[in-house]
Amino acid sequence: MKIIKTVRDMQDFSESLRLRGKRIAFVPTMGYLHNGHLELMKEGKKLADCLITSIYVNPTQFGPDEDLDKYPRDFEGDERLSRNVGVDVIFYPANSQMYPENYHTYVTVENITDNLCGLSRPCFFRGVTTICAKLFNIVKPHVTIFGRKDFQQLVVIKRMVTDLNMDIEVVGMPTVREPDGLAMSSRNAYLKEDERESALSLSRSLKYAAELYERGERDAGVIIKEVKDFIEKHPGTRIDYAKICDVETMKDVERLDGRSVLALAVWVGTPRLIDNYVFGENK
Ligand code: PAF
Repeated sequence: MKIIKTVRDMQDFSESLRLRGKRIAFVPTMGYLHNGHLELMKEGKKLADCLITSIYVNPTQFGPDEDLDKYPRDFEGDERLSRNVGVDVIFYPANSQMYPENYHTYVTVENITDNLCGLSRPCFFRGVTTICAKLFNIVKPHVTIFGRKDFQQLVVIKRMVTDLNMDIEVVGMPTVREPDGLAMSSRNAYLKEDERESALSLSRSLKYAAELYERGERDAGVIIKEVKDFIEKHPGTRIDYAKICDVETMKDVERLDGRSVLALAVWVGTPRLIDNYVFGENK
């Protein structure tokens, strides 16, 4: 497994693969890898000849009061896990490589970034789309794999790739969960032992919402109220949002007639955790 740290070396390496007719799969990450990332990588292995991952905690997607400095990091652990799963290259750039002096260019996707995480984290999607566009230009993948836990992020990346005519296939993979149902996240590392039970309120409330749907409930307001009441019963929780949106427009829906997603963002003690459930499909 190679570790590449400069943009030039990464571009040259990818170009040489392409010239030899090799297919490149790419999994962008911010490190502190868990099974969720590893599943994306395993899928990448199946889809291409060369699997490249990036480990880069992207400063432009964090707001001024967010956890950029405290974001968990463990490059040695990440290296070991990546090697075990068959990663061929880790792209591990420094900030000076990604945002050199006089950097002034940002990519924004409009409208579908106005709700959910885009509403509560105003810098977030501008940072994500900018870094992903840059990484795509550097790594030159044929296919890229994202998790569906960040549902809106996946929709936004697909939109950017389509709108900017990037010749990349975007694959979305199901959320990977702990045996108790907690969606895997690097931020779970912040959870104190007694907060763990409260953190389960997210996945459990989604399950409850799915049951309400199965029983025929189609009023979004009713389901959201039940979900909020359920989560708020758990100590240490503070709901950022609990909304039901159209899976393409990301606009709130009143009735669950088309395909819609229940998206949650909840602070549990320190971390803000997200999770979601898409109604009417088996995940
Ligand atoms: O989902 C993430 O970990 C990040 O938002 C990403 C896609 C790696 C961009 O920094």
